[in-house]
Amino acid sequence: MQRNDSSRTVVVAGGTDGMRRATAVARIERGDTVVVVGRNAEKGARLTELAERLGATDRFAFVQADLSSIAAVRKVIRYVGEAHPVVDALVLTANRQNLKRAESAEGIESTLSLYYLSRYLLGHGFAEQFDAAADPVIINVAGPGIKAGSVAWDDLQLRGRYTTMRAQLQAGRANDLLAVAFAENPSSRAKYVLYHPGFTRTDAINQFNQPLRALVKAYAKVGAKSVADSAAPMIRWIENPPAERLTVDDRGKPVDLNLKTFDQGDASRLVGVTEELLKGR
Ligand SMILES: NC(=O)c1ccc[n+]([C@@H]2O[C@H](COP(=O)([O-])OP(=O)(O)OC[C@H]3O[C@@H](n4cnc5c(N)ncnc54)[C@H](OP(=O)(O)O)[C@@H]3O)[C@@H](O)[C@H]2O)c1
Repeated sequence: MQRNDSSRTVVVAGGTDGMRRATAVARIERGDTVVVVGRNAEKGARLTELAERLGATDRFAFVQADLSSIAAVRKVIRYVGEAHPVVDALVLTANRQNLKRAESAEGIESTLSLYYLSRYLLGHGFAEQFDAAADPVIINVAGPGIKAGSVAWDDLQLRGRYTTMRAQLQAGRANDLLAVAFAENPSSRAKYVLYHPGFTRTDAINQFNQPLRALVKAYAKVGAKSVADSAAPMIRWIENPPAERLTVDDRGKPVDLNLKTFDQGDASRLVGVTEELLKGR
């Protein structure tokens, strides 16, 4: 496949599987240069083989990294940023349900580190490369506007009381606030899209324990969206970024930005707490 003038450079963080993989492959097929960052070398090798079959060897790179580690994320930003002075689109999707509380290499609660901190660092880390692009966009795939849960300001690391759900809801809320803070005080010209794909038949289902896994799988067969359907809006946003600084989309519908989950005060507070957390790490 030939590269054309409208081709873009797309970085997909956590993109070896599911809707991100579908987005990466669709963009390769459109002639873009695609960098997929993922943890799983085997899945990375399979994507590399697919890129070869699509005639895109020189337009595809797999970068192996554990995105729950701050040091690894910073290394990715340096490495990818040096190789690609222009980044048109960044897709943020890495997440994992940790059944038991775990900590990252830097001693931060793992869900917070992977699902929120990596996205904070990557979104700001490519500022120079976004500003070199014609119409840059960041697509953060999460669960915006969920009213349940909160940021545990007094115990951000959930040392006192950890549950998988509490950690997911906290990091999800942190992503709502990250988007608000980015739009309010942008580090680049990138437009920010916060996207709720809805229940999708991805590998995430396998992270549940039995018997819940069997139940969720059975429900997913009838009640969940296909990976292709969930990936479609992402592929379009890369092609045509929204005009607005911040777009929050829940399964095709705009989300009310007056919801408490997008509170400006909380967003500024989280920036301060995050910078404090990153200090010296
Ligand atoms: N699926 C849904 O129904 C649904 C609904 C609403 C919102 N969402 C949100 O959409 C996003 C994607 O969800 P999904 O269902 O597609 O999840 P998924 O299938 O579990 O995929 C998560 C991705 O993150 C990667 N990843 C996990 N840990 C990593 C690490 N330490 N370093 C680098 N990459 C890592 C995985 O790579 P490996 O395969 O290498 O581990 C995988 O590619 C999440 O933020 C989720 O909250 C999903």
